[in-house]
Amino acid sequence: MINVQFAALPERWATYETPLRAAFAEAGLEVDLRLDHAPDEVNYVVYAPNSDLQDFTPYTRCKAVLSLWAGVEKIVSNQTLTMPLCRMVDPGLTAGMVEWVTGHVLRYHLGIDRTTHTQDRWEPVVPPLAEERPVTVLGLGALGQACASMLATLGFPVTGWSRSKKSIDGITCRHGDDGLRDALATAQIVILLLPDTPATENKLNSDTLALLPKGARIINPGRGPLIDDDALLAALDGGQIGHATLDVFRIEPLPMDHPYWAHPRVTVTPHIAAETRPLTAARVIADNIRRGEAEAPFLHQVDRTLGY
Ligand code: NDP
Ligand code: OXD
Repeated sequence: MINVQFAALPERWATYETPLRAAFAEAGLEVDLRLDHAPDEVNYVVYAPNSDLQDFTPYTRCKAVLSLWAGVEKIVSNQTLTMPLCRMVDPGLTAGMVEWVTGHVLRYHLGIDRTTHTQDRWEPVVPPLAEERPVTVLGLGALGQACASMLATLGFPVTGWSRSKKSIDGITCRHGDDGLRDALATAQIVILLLPDTPATENKLNSDTLALLPKGARIINPGRGPLIDDDALLAALDGGQIGHATLDVFRIEPLPMDHPYWAHPRVTVTPHIAAETRPLTAARVIADNIRRGEAEAPFLHQVDRTLGY
């Protein structure tokens, strides 16, 4: 019997219990899934960062902590977590992010807000074709790559930027500091899908925002600390940045007195770009437990030194 502990917000149990049990059965795993195993009897922890579980010291037989979240910045430097940590790469979450990003890119590209605000007059403004609108995706991981590929399929010239060198069909790939300069130089729309690590903090700052063509738009479904907020507000006020759509923030919920709320050129969404979907995510968890039991390498294991 494999002992699996579910450690997330208690209300998530109702959503995840059935899909997890079904996925374990489908994978042929005999699992005792509970909220309350004795810590020293747990073999795997299914984890969300808002769980009460923060001290992993008593989890002496735990083979892996399997995150329900893609972003692991809240747990990656937990010193008591000495076992492997795997992040979530879920087809359902990816599909949601592709839809959200594509929707917001098309909103900017087609000038949908303009159309809504000029309902009282006949004022034809024909948007350019996608092929005339360079878009840059910062981060070419599970989510960045899927979004970049969808945007390329729609015809946008897409540049992607990552830490390591990459080659992806239909995407101009850049990497490293020099690559960032190239990736930003022509981008009319920039999408941030980087993890929150010490190396990515304030990646968009007054210097990098100044590299963009005047009036560029920013879409951030990555994490709040990727952007220097004061620099973005200054760039919005000065016209260097035309508009920003922000889903994630340094403090969440975004405090009601934050200038983003009232800014005429900012759209705030409440960290809803993409959510882990229990049905598909449960299969990913089951697959990783099957791997752990077979002593095969885990999928999506976090590199603690890189922080993602
Ligand atoms: P991945 O780990 O698969 O990809 C991360 C990408 O960022 C990789 O391409 C990586 O480069 C690149 N990267 C990391 N550090 C650097 C750096 N210092 N310089 C340049 N590139 C860097 O993550 P996902 O695609 O799965 O997710 C991305 C983020 O999206 C998550 O970390 C999370 O913060 C956020 N997210 C937000 C959600 C929301 O609802 N708003 C939902 C889910 C996730 P390389 O390929 O070379 O390793
Ligand atoms: C995640 C998120 O990281 O929802 O999964 O932001």
